[in-house]
Amino acid sequence: MSQLELTLAIIKPDAVTSRIAGEIVSIIERHGFRIRGLRMVHLTAAEAEGFYAVHRGKPFFRGLVKFMTEGPIIVMALEREDAIQKWRELMGATDPEQAAEGTIRRWFGASTQRNTVHGSDASETARVEVAYFFPEIFSASSRGPSGKPRGAGPARRR
Ligand code: CMP
Repeated sequence: MSQLELTLAIIKPDAVTSRIAGEIVSIIERHGFRIRGLRMVHLTAAEAEGFYAVHRGKPFFRGLVKFMTEGPIIVMALEREDAIQKWRELMGATDPEQAAEGTIRRWFGASTQRNTVHGSDASETARVEVAYFFPEIFSASSRGPSGKPRGAGPARRR
C-alpha cells in the first residue's frame, strides 16, 4: 500500500486576486488531500528568491519573483497517499495550454508563468518546501502515531 506523504501546494497571486482560491481549496479536498497547514503570506522578493533558488539564473527567474510577490499567496501542506504525484497530476503541466483536461492549470492558468498553483516535484523538495513555510509540522509536538515526524527531516526556516 502507498504511504502517506506531505507535499507543498501554493495558490499563486493570480488565483488569489481572481478570487478562485476557495474553489481550488475545495477541489483539493474533494481529491482526498488532508490540509495539514494553511496560511496566506505576501512574499518579499528575498523570500520568493529563496523559495525558487533552484531557478536562479534562468531567463524567467526575475519575472517569476516579480509575479510571486505581486500579491498574497496561500501556502498549504497537503497530506495523502502519493501526495506529491497526485497533486502534480491535479495541477497539470506547467504550461496551461499543455495541461490535460480536468486539471487546475488547464481550467484556470493564463500562461506558463501565471499558472495558478505550485507543487513540490519530489520527496526531497517536498520536505524542504513544507519546512520552508511550516517548520512546526516537523517539530516534536506534531509527531505521528509512530512517534516519528510525519514528514521527514529537520524543521528549517530560511
Ligand atoms: P512552478 O511549478 O511554481 O515552478 C516554477 C515556476 O516558474 C513555474 O511554476 C512557473 O510559474 C514559472 N516558469 C517555469 N517555466 C517558465 C517559463 N518558461 N517562462 C515563464 N515562467 C516559467
